[in-house]
Amino acid sequence: MTEGEKTLRVLDIITAKRDGAELSESDIRQLVLDYAADRLPDYQMAAFLMAAYIRGLSLNETIALTWAMVDSGTTLDLSNITGTKVDKHSSGGVGDKTTLVLVPMLAACGLKVPKMSGRGLGFTGGTLDKLESIPGFTTSLSVDQFVQQVEQIGAAIAGQTADLVPADKKIYALRDATATVDSIPYIAASIMSKKIACSSDVILIDVKVGSGAFMKDLAQARELSNMLFAIGQSFNRKVAVAITDMNQPLGRAVGNALEVAEAIDALKGQGPSDLRELCVQLCAIILHLVEHHQSHKECIRYASTVLDNGSALEVFRKIVQAQGGNASIIDDASLLPRARIKEDVPSPKNGFIEAINCASIGKASSILGGGRERKEDTINPAVGIVIYKKLGDAVEYGERLAVVHADDVDRASTARDIIANAYSIGTHQHPAPSLVHEVISQ
Ligand code: URA
Repeated sequence: MTEGEKTLRVLDIITAKRDGAELSESDIRQLVLDYAADRLPDYQMAAFLMAAYIRGLSLNETIALTWAMVDSGTTLDLSNITGTKVDKHSSGGVGDKTTLVLVPMLAACGLKVPKMSGRGLGFTGGTLDKLESIPGFTTSLSVDQFVQQVEQIGAAIAGQTADLVPADKKIYALRDATATVDSIPYIAASIMSKKIACSSDVILIDVKVGSGAFMKDLAQARELSNMLFAIGQSFNRKVAVAITDMNQPLGRAVGNALEVAEAIDALKGQGPSDLRELCVQLCAIILHLVEHHQSHKECIRYASTVLDNGSALEVFRKIVQAQGGNASIIDDASLLPRARIKEDVPSPKNGFIEAINCASIGKASSILGGGRERKEDTINPAVGIVIYKKLGDAVEYGERLAVVHADDVDRASTARDIIANAYSIGTHQHPAPSLVHEVISQ
């Protein structure tokens, strides 16, 4: 095809989508692979993204988008790892330290967990940032180191290599600049392309729903979940999708080192009950996918046992040691980075906690220095928030709602205001929302 013919074909594809037509697999493939290889200018991809954002993408088109994104780079070769390889992914939340607990739990259950994670952006936190608050811990592993560690101790948690789904990185940046981030087909293709490229046999996606999540209501979360599930099936992977609540932070800690300390508490069989319950439920969903003959009840029991008998904690210790971290933090949390200032956020009145704007809590943590607005921002691992009052709790005037951990007086003051405004205190006691709303599984 000549350059002129190619330009005309690209224009035809954009026009067809603008007019609401369903595109073929080869049309979508051409756009994505040409864009990833710098053969398609930003302005044409931006036009396509906006057309498909407004007109929508069918399931077949979204599967084609996912395939093309996977094929824009390399896939991880896990053939040297024996046993069943499992992976999990969260669509992003506030105080979501589930991966830190769940990965060692799964390995303690005898599964292999090659986990590639991301960094926090905006109001959501990222697993890599949390782990890097452990002195010495590295998340930059070569593929060989990563595979060897999974084979030896059952799990590794590292950053994604640059040659894995390069199209996602480029398209995500363009979505960010063209108001096309919050499209369900784009989010589904972005998440699943990375999970497929990581090559695990079993994939669990935790779709967060609520005020601290991308998906604000159950209808949106269901649409995304059904799409994620169908994409996974089209790639012949065992997939489950859990829709879980994010109308308040998970556990009590929000902020990198604070969340590591709380995850370690959970691994010791202690810590907040919602964190433990979610990790046990998610672990059981994966165990049931792998071992269909075991009942849900048996899977729950097994998942709880690895927390209570210390075996998951021991896997976590091995992960920290293998990745260069100071494992003494497990026995002495004071060795983790600590903020200089601790300030209470007092309740302005008596009543019950009726709502928490969870994204605002994430934003407050970011303002303290615990998150980043732009990718290149550096973060302060020590700062964050500890939540004392959660949905449905009774509170008295002046009692603390939360404590801000800060290294800067001005930022502490801004964060306190944001947190105080994030709480809605009323006269009615509503029950706390259930933690797992729905599960789609095969
Ligand atoms: N998480 C991703 O990996 N991609 C998106 O587009 C949104 C959330």
